Amino acid sequence: MADPLFSVQGKVVHVCGGSRGIGRAIAQAFHERGAKVIVSARNEDELKSTGLAYEVCDIARNADIVRCVDNIARQFGRIDVLFNVAGINFRHAAETFPDDKLDDILSVNVRGNFVMARECGRRMIEQKSGKVVNIASLHTGYSLAGMVPYGASKGAIGSMTRALAVEWAAYNIQVNAIAPGFILTDLNRAVLERPEIKAFAETRALLGRIGEPRDLVGVAIFLASAASDYMTGQVVYVDGGLTAGTTWPLSYPK
Ligand code: NAI
Repeated sequence: MADPLFSVQGKVVHVCGGSRGIGRAIAQAFHERGAKVIVSARNEDELKSTGLAYEVCDIARNADIVRCVDNIARQFGRIDVLFNVAGINFRHAAETFPDDKLDDILSVNVRGNFVMARECGRRMIEQKSGKVVNIASLHTGYSLAGMVPYGASKGAIGSMTRALAVEWAAYNIQVNAIAPGFILTDLNRAVLERPEIKAFAETRALLGRIGEPRDLVGVAIFLASAASDYMTGQVVYVDGGLTAGTTWPLSYPK
Protein backbone atom coordinates (compact mmCIF):
# COMPACT_ATOMS: atom_id res chain seq x y z
CA MET A 1 0.00 0.00 0.00
CA ALA A 2 1.24 3.48 -0.85
CA ASP A 3 2.41 5.57 2.10
CA PRO A 4 -0.10 8.49 2.47
CA LEU A 5 2.71 10.71 3.74
CA PHE A 6 4.24 10.68 0.28
CA SER A 7 1.00 10.39 -1.73
CA VAL A 8 0.43 12.69 -4.71
CA GLN A 9 -2.71 10.82 -5.79
CA GLY A 10 -5.37 13.19 -7.15
CA LYS A 11 -3.22 16.32 -6.80
CA VAL A 12 -3.37 18.82 -9.67
CA VAL A 13 0.26 19.24 -10.68
CA HIS A 14 1.49 21.74 -13.25
CA VAL A 15 4.96 21.07 -14.63
CA CYS A 16 6.15 24.19 -16.46
CA GLY A 17 8.90 23.01 -18.80
CA GLY A 18 7.49 19.48 -18.75
CA SER A 19 7.98 18.55 -22.40
CA ARG A 20 11.57 17.32 -22.06
CA GLY A 21 14.34 16.37 -19.69
CA ILE A 22 13.92 16.88 -15.96
CA GLY A 23 10.37 18.28 -16.20
CA ARG A 24 9.20 15.40 -18.36
CA ALA A 25 10.59 12.81 -15.93
CA ILE A 26 8.87 14.53 -13.00
CA ALA A 27 5.58 14.81 -14.93
CA GLN A 28 5.66 11.13 -15.88
CA ALA A 29 6.47 10.02 -12.32
CA PHE A 30 3.55 12.02 -10.90
CA HIS A 31 1.18 10.70 -13.57
CA GLU A 32 2.21 7.13 -12.68
CA ARG A 33 1.40 7.90 -9.03
CA GLY A 34 -2.14 9.10 -9.74
CA ALA A 35 -1.66 12.87 -9.93
CA LYS A 36 -3.55 14.97 -12.50
CA VAL A 37 -0.59 16.33 -14.44
CA ILE A 38 -0.55 19.23 -16.87
CA VAL A 39 2.69 19.94 -18.72
CA SER A 40 3.47 23.27 -20.36
CA ALA A 41 6.26 24.36 -22.70
CA ARG A 42 6.67 26.07 -26.07
CA ASN A 43 6.74 23.12 -28.47
CA GLU A 44 3.34 21.51 -29.06
CA ASP A 45 4.70 18.37 -30.75
CA GLU A 46 6.97 17.65 -27.77
CA LEU A 47 4.10 18.35 -25.36
CA LYS A 48 1.78 16.00 -27.28
CA SER A 49 4.39 13.24 -27.19
CA THR A 50 4.15 13.12 -23.37
CA GLY A 51 0.58 11.77 -23.64
CA LEU A 52 -0.39 14.10 -20.78
CA ALA A 53 -2.72 17.11 -20.62
CA TYR A 54 -0.80 20.15 -21.85
CA GLU A 55 -0.79 23.89 -22.44
CA VAL A 56 1.43 25.59 -25.00
CA CYS A 57 3.15 28.40 -23.11
CA ASP A 58 6.28 30.49 -23.63
CA ILE A 59 7.19 31.83 -20.20
CA ALA A 60 9.08 34.72 -21.78
CA ARG A 61 5.59 36.08 -22.60
CA ASN A 62 3.38 37.16 -19.70
CA ALA A 63 0.17 36.79 -21.71
CA ASP A 64 1.01 33.12 -22.37
CA ILE A 65 1.49 32.46 -18.66
CA VAL A 66 -1.76 34.16 -17.69
CA ARG A 67 -3.71 32.20 -20.32
CA CYS A 68 -1.98 28.90 -19.39
CA VAL A 69 -2.71 29.21 -15.67
CA ASP A 70 -6.29 30.42 -16.30
CA ASN A 71 -6.93 27.38 -18.49
CA ILE A 72 -5.53 24.95 -15.92
CA ALA A 73 -7.50 26.54 -13.06
CA ARG A 74 -10.72 26.53 -15.12
CA GLN A 75 -10.31 22.95 -16.32
CA PHE A 76 -9.05 21.35 -13.10
CA GLY A 77 -10.59 23.68 -10.51
CA ARG A 78 -7.36 24.14 -8.54
CA ILE A 79 -3.55 23.96 -8.71
CA ASP A 80 -1.97 21.97 -5.89
CA VAL A 81 1.63 21.88 -7.08
CA LEU A 82 3.73 23.96 -9.45
CA PHE A 83 7.05 22.63 -10.70
CA ASN A 84 8.81 25.67 -12.16
CA VAL A 85 11.25 23.75 -14.36
CA ALA A 86 11.58 25.73 -17.63
CA GLY A 87 15.05 27.17 -18.00
CA ILE A 88 17.69 27.95 -20.63
CA ASN A 89 21.45 28.40 -20.71
CA PHE A 90 24.06 29.95 -22.98
CA ARG A 91 27.80 29.61 -22.43
CA HIS A 92 30.08 32.53 -23.22
CA ALA A 93 32.81 34.59 -21.55
CA ALA A 94 31.38 37.29 -19.26
CA GLU A 95 33.37 40.15 -20.82
CA THR A 96 31.84 39.63 -24.28
CA PHE A 97 28.50 38.08 -23.32
CA PRO A 98 25.89 39.04 -25.98
CA ASP A 99 23.02 41.29 -24.84
CA ASP A 100 20.32 39.26 -26.58
CA LYS A 101 21.37 36.03 -24.84
CA LEU A 102 21.53 37.84 -21.50
CA ASP A 103 17.96 39.09 -22.03
CA ASP A 104 16.78 35.60 -23.05
CA ILE A 105 18.22 33.98 -19.93
CA LEU A 106 16.86 36.60 -17.56
CA SER A 107 13.42 36.72 -19.17
CA VAL A 108 12.96 32.94 -18.96
CA ASN A 109 14.90 31.86 -15.86
CA VAL A 110 14.06 34.84 -13.64
CA ARG A 111 11.11 36.83 -14.96
CA GLY A 112 9.25 33.86 -16.47
CA ASN A 113 9.68 31.65 -13.43
CA PHE A 114 8.57 34.49 -11.16
CA VAL A 115 5.47 35.35 -13.19
CA MET A 116 4.54 31.65 -13.36
CA ALA A 117 4.90 31.36 -9.57
CA ARG A 118 2.87 34.56 -9.12
CA GLU A 119 -0.01 33.35 -11.30
CA CYS A 120 -0.15 29.87 -9.74
CA GLY A 121 0.42 31.33 -6.27
CA ARG A 122 -2.70 33.50 -6.58
CA ARG A 123 -4.78 30.33 -6.99
CA MET A 124 -2.99 28.63 -4.11
CA ILE A 125 -3.69 31.65 -1.88
CA GLU A 126 -7.41 31.32 -2.70
CA GLN A 127 -7.23 27.60 -1.85
CA LYS A 128 -5.12 28.30 1.26
CA SER A 129 -2.74 25.52 0.28
CA GLY A 130 -0.11 24.72 -2.29
CA LYS A 131 3.44 23.66 -3.05
CA VAL A 132 5.81 25.52 -5.35
CA VAL A 133 8.96 23.67 -6.35
CA ASN A 134 11.45 25.76 -8.31
CA ILE A 135 14.38 24.23 -10.16
CA ALA A 136 17.55 25.95 -9.08
CA SER A 137 21.00 24.61 -10.00
CA LEU A 138 24.48 23.76 -8.86
CA HIS A 139 25.04 27.40 -9.88
CA THR A 140 22.75 28.66 -7.10
CA GLY A 141 25.67 28.40 -4.71
CA TYR A 142 28.67 27.35 -6.81
CA SER A 143 30.15 28.54 -10.10
CA LEU A 144 31.55 27.04 -13.27
CA ALA A 145 33.28 29.29 -15.82
CA GLY A 146 31.41 30.55 -18.88
CA MET A 147 27.93 30.86 -17.39
CA VAL A 148 27.73 34.12 -15.43
CA PRO A 149 24.18 35.16 -16.46
CA TYR A 150 22.90 31.60 -16.00
CA GLY A 151 24.53 31.48 -12.56
CA ALA A 152 23.02 34.86 -11.67
CA SER A 153 19.60 33.63 -12.77
CA LYS A 154 19.88 30.49 -10.65
CA GLY A 155 21.08 32.54 -7.68
CA ALA A 156 17.89 34.54 -8.17
CA ILE A 157 15.87 31.30 -8.07
CA GLY A 158 17.36 30.60 -4.63
CA SER A 159 16.43 34.12 -3.42
CA MET A 160 12.98 33.91 -4.96
CA THR A 161 12.40 30.57 -3.26
CA ARG A 162 13.19 32.02 0.17
CA ALA A 163 11.30 35.28 -0.44
CA LEU A 164 8.12 33.57 -1.69
CA ALA A 165 8.31 31.16 1.24
CA VAL A 166 8.33 34.17 3.59
CA GLU A 167 5.35 35.89 1.92
CA TRP A 168 3.19 32.83 1.37
CA ALA A 169 3.73 30.86 4.59
CA ALA A 170 0.62 32.59 5.98
CA TYR A 171 -1.45 30.89 3.25
CA ASN A 172 -0.13 27.38 3.92
CA ILE A 173 1.97 27.42 0.75
CA GLN A 174 5.40 25.81 0.92
CA VAL A 175 8.03 27.04 -1.55
CA ASN A 176 11.22 25.04 -1.98
CA ALA A 177 13.73 24.37 -4.74
CA ILE A 178 15.66 21.44 -6.12
CA ALA A 179 19.23 22.21 -7.21
CA PRO A 180 20.34 19.49 -9.63
CA GLY A 181 23.99 18.77 -10.34
CA PHE A 182 25.07 17.35 -13.70
CA ILE A 183 21.95 15.68 -15.13
CA LEU A 184 22.14 14.35 -18.69
CA THR A 185 19.42 16.04 -20.81
CA ASP A 186 19.03 17.82 -24.17
CA LEU A 187 20.20 21.01 -22.42
CA ASN A 188 23.74 19.69 -21.96
CA ARG A 189 24.02 16.39 -23.87
CA ALA A 190 26.50 17.78 -26.42
CA VAL A 191 28.79 18.95 -23.61
CA LEU A 192 28.40 16.12 -21.08
CA GLU A 193 29.04 13.45 -23.70
CA ARG A 194 32.48 14.89 -24.52
CA PRO A 195 34.91 12.41 -22.88
CA GLU A 196 36.91 15.03 -20.96
CA ILE A 197 33.75 16.70 -19.60
CA LYS A 198 32.16 13.35 -18.76
CA ALA A 199 35.30 12.33 -16.85
CA PHE A 200 35.33 15.70 -15.04
CA ALA A 201 31.66 15.42 -14.02
CA GLU A 202 32.07 11.80 -12.88
CA THR A 203 35.11 12.69 -10.81
CA ARG A 204 33.56 15.75 -9.15
CA ALA A 205 30.33 14.00 -8.18
CA LEU A 206 31.21 12.04 -5.03
CA LEU A 207 28.85 9.28 -6.14
CA GLY A 208 30.94 8.81 -9.28
CA ARG A 209 28.40 9.26 -12.06
CA ILE A 210 26.42 11.81 -14.04
CA GLY A 211 22.79 12.01 -12.93
CA GLU A 212 19.67 11.21 -14.93
CA PRO A 213 16.31 13.02 -14.74
CA ARG A 214 14.87 10.12 -12.71
CA ASP A 215 17.40 10.84 -9.95
CA LEU A 216 15.31 13.95 -9.10
CA VAL A 217 11.97 12.15 -8.80
CA GLY A 218 12.27 11.13 -5.14
CA VAL A 219 12.95 14.67 -3.93
CA ALA A 220 10.23 16.01 -6.24
CA ILE A 221 7.67 13.67 -4.63
CA PHE A 222 8.88 14.61 -1.15
CA LEU A 223 8.57 18.35 -1.85
CA ALA A 224 5.09 17.98 -3.39
CA SER A 225 3.64 15.73 -0.68
CA ALA A 226 2.59 16.02 2.97
CA ALA A 227 6.01 14.66 3.94
CA SER A 228 7.47 18.17 3.48
CA ASP A 229 4.65 20.19 5.11
CA TYR A 230 6.97 21.70 7.75
CA MET A 231 9.68 22.66 5.26
CA THR A 232 9.76 25.89 3.28
CA GLY A 233 12.30 28.27 1.71
CA GLN A 234 14.94 25.55 1.25
CA VAL A 235 17.18 24.67 -1.69
CA VAL A 236 17.84 20.92 -1.79
CA TYR A 237 20.95 19.91 -3.72
CA VAL A 238 20.62 16.68 -5.69
CA ASP A 239 24.07 16.65 -7.20
CA GLY A 240 25.69 13.32 -6.40
CA GLY A 241 27.57 15.08 -3.59
CA LEU A 242 29.37 17.56 -5.83
CA THR A 243 28.84 20.58 -3.58
CA ALA A 244 29.52 18.62 -0.38
CA GLY A 245 33.25 18.67 -0.95
CA THR A 246 35.98 16.78 -2.70
CA THR A 247 38.54 14.12 -2.01
CA TRP A 248 42.19 15.24 -2.24
CA PRO A 249 45.55 13.60 -2.76
CA LEU A 250 46.46 13.45 0.93
CA SER A 251 47.02 10.01 2.36
CA TYR A 252 45.81 9.36 5.88
CA PRO A 253 45.77 6.31 8.13
CA LYS A 254 42.84 3.94 7.73
P1 NAI B 1 15.77 20.75 -21.27
O1 NAI B 1 16.28 21.74 -22.26
O2 NAI B 1 15.83 19.29 -21.60
O3 NAI B 1 14.27 21.11 -20.86
C1 NAI B 1 13.91 22.44 -20.60
C2 NAI B 1 12.41 22.53 -20.58
O4 NAI B 1 12.06 23.90 -20.44
C3 NAI B 1 11.80 22.06 -21.88
O5 NAI B 1 10.55 21.46 -21.60
C4 NAI B 1 11.61 23.36 -22.64
O6 NAI B 1 10.59 23.29 -23.59
C5 NAI B 1 11.22 24.29 -21.50
N1 NAI B 1 11.43 25.68 -21.82
C6 NAI B 1 12.58 26.31 -22.17
N2 NAI B 1 12.33 27.59 -22.45
C7 NAI B 1 11.00 27.79 -22.24
C8 NAI B 1 10.14 28.91 -22.35
N3 NAI B 1 10.58 30.12 -22.76
N4 NAI B 1 8.83 28.75 -22.06
C9 NAI B 1 8.36 27.54 -21.65
N5 NAI B 1 9.12 26.45 -21.56
C10 NAI B 1 10.42 26.58 -21.85
O7 NAI B 1 16.57 21.06 -19.92
P2 NAI B 1 16.70 20.29 -18.53
O8 NAI B 1 18.10 19.86 -18.39
O9 NAI B 1 15.60 19.32 -18.34
O10 NAI B 1 16.53 21.54 -17.54
C11 NAI B 1 15.37 21.77 -16.78
C12 NAI B 1 15.70 22.76 -15.68
O11 NAI B 1 16.71 22.22 -14.84
C13 NAI B 1 16.25 24.10 -16.18
O12 NAI B 1 15.73 25.13 -15.38
C14 NAI B 1 17.73 23.96 -15.97
O13 NAI B 1 18.35 25.21 -15.79
C15 NAI B 1 17.76 23.14 -14.70
N6 NAI B 1 18.99 22.44 -14.47
C16 NAI B 1 19.43 21.46 -15.30
C17 NAI B 1 20.61 20.80 -15.04
C18 NAI B 1 21.13 19.71 -15.91
O14 NAI B 1 22.26 19.27 -15.67
N7 NAI B 1 20.39 19.24 -16.91
C19 NAI B 1 21.43 21.15 -13.87
C20 NAI B 1 20.89 22.17 -13.05
C21 NAI B 1 19.70 22.79 -13.35
